[in-house]
Amino acid sequence: MGAAIGGVGLAHWHEQGDQGLVADIPSGPIAVLGGTGALGAALAARLNAAGCEVWIGSRDLDKARAAAMQHGPAVRGASLAEAAASCDIIFLTVPYAAHADTLSQIREAAQGKIVVDTTVPLRPPKVGRVQLPAAGCAALEAAEILGKAVRVVSALQNIGAEKLGSGKAVDADVLVTGDDGEAVELVRSLLGRLGLSSWHAGPLANAAAAEALTSVLIQINRRYKIDQAGVRITGRAKDAPAPPRSLSVTAVPGLPMFKEGDDLGSAITQALVDCGLTLQDGDVVVIAQKAVSKVEGRTVPLSTVAPSDTALAAAAKAEKDPAVVELVLRESQELMRVVPGVIISRHRTGHVLANSGIDASNVDSRETPTVLLWPSDPDLSARALRAGLEAKSGVRLAVIISDSLGRAWRMGTVGAAIGVAGLQALRDRRGESDLFGRELQATVIGVADEIAAAASLVIGEGAEGTPVAVVRGAAYDPDPADGGIGALLRPLERDLFR
Ligand SMILES: NC(=O)c1ccc[n+]([C@@H]2O[C@H](COP(=O)([O-])OP(=O)(O)OC[C@H]3O[C@@H](n4cnc5c(N)ncnc54)[C@H](OP(=O)(O)O)[C@@H]3O)[C@@H](O)[C@H]2O)c1
Repeated sequence: MGAAIGGVGLAHWHEQGDQGLVADIPSGPIAVLGGTGALGAALAARLNAAGCEVWIGSRDLDKARAAAMQHGPAVRGASLAEAAASCDIIFLTVPYAAHADTLSQIREAAQGKIVVDTTVPLRPPKVGRVQLPAAGCAALEAAEILGKAVRVVSALQNIGAEKLGSGKAVDADVLVTGDDGEAVELVRSLLGRLGLSSWHAGPLANAAAAEALTSVLIQINRRYKIDQAGVRITGRAKDAPAPPRSLSVTAVPGLPMFKEGDDLGSAITQALVDCGLTLQDGDVVVIAQKAVSKVEGRTVPLSTVAPSDTALAAAAKAEKDPAVVELVLRESQELMRVVPGVIISRHRTGHVLANSGIDASNVDSRETPTVLLWPSDPDLSARALRAGLEAKSGVRLAVIISDSLGRAWRMGTVGAAIGVAGLQALRDRRGESDLFGRELQATVIGVADEIAAAASLVIGEGAEGTPVAVVRGAAYDPDPADGGIGALLRPLERDLFR
């Protein structure tokens, strides 16, 4: 496809990710009027870094030349009219107060060319409030001043100068509007070359939305102390390639030190609101067992425990506190190994682990030695928390209660699931095909453990005080029937090492 209007010919088009067919960029210099200022200098730097020849236009020739020298030999300084006359694409980056006057000065030189207006029609000091001119927006005013032979495109109103000038990836989209589709695509191509993601957002009149959005973003920057907030368009173009899979794991900050009787669901919901994180369908909330146990009153002062003879004997062998060993016995079905320093037991719930999960870390023992037991029924605890969080958030969730467990054949502890709700603890992929069409015979994934392990990377084991994490993007099978953790536990008859 190709066309030539004025000095800018559009000869080629190419695919740009999700965003469809965009035009190839013409060679030739690009003018930045106001390139001595914040946005213009950032734009000139980015254009220069992308290999473009740039003309900085200024009201003051010396100022233009001095600014150009900051960038290097491919950037020149000129008067506004000379810069406009020398280039086929002209960016306008001056304050709204100078908008009409600057456009009038370049009207003649701009005929047949593309002018990219970045102006936000703000009249300080109330810049956090949308102010649009009677004509609808600054871009329409520009088109009116320049006349029909100039193709006005509007862009960049929502990209902060600092971000643009950083040379790094910009985590925001550019809304590009214009009445000439080819000019819009050409500008989008140029923005793509600068590493900016953009969308054709409709006719030039729609520039009103982008111009107005800047005041909205200024408000958001102030209110949430964000460094140059931007906008992102979500959704995916039909037939676009699937985006790469990703997983996010976020610790929830600001939770209180839990105590017996606290409402976990309410506390987590409040902390999520405070940190600006909104739960989404399919999120998995992972909570450390200790927080659940504390709320359920599972702390035991050791002074209240009378060790039995069995406990005394096992304690002597394991060289451990007899009261702790008594609790290990009460919490277990059987002791599987007792050696100095270690007791491995089968917990009431069927998990095989050290000390029946009894732990003294992160438990207040300042007045009297105290330990913490696992929740009475971790699956039930997970179900209750899930019900509370779902009722408050209105989205479908899964909940995992996690603890750090050792592994029989490997050193080091790993976060593992001890109770689940809303997800199947195992992900059975048998019967699916591999890359070559071969049917998977034995692939059953311990997905609840995998998610718990990922969450433990941010939940922390020490004094972090962040017992809850939200895991987003994990592939798991929902479990409306709430079968619980049982599927993860190897049945005794399949224990090859007993
Ligand atoms: N800053 C941003 O983050 C940002 C982001 C998006 C959009 N924008 C838009 O981009 C445009 C430029 O913003 P900016 O922050 O870069 O502005 P700026 O630094 O204050 O000014 C840019 C340049 O405009 C020229 N200018 C012409 N007449 C002027 C006048 N009456 N008063 C002041 N300067 C005048 C000056 O260049 P000479 O003296 O060399 O002529 C100045 O260096 C604005 O329309 C703004 O809404 C800015």
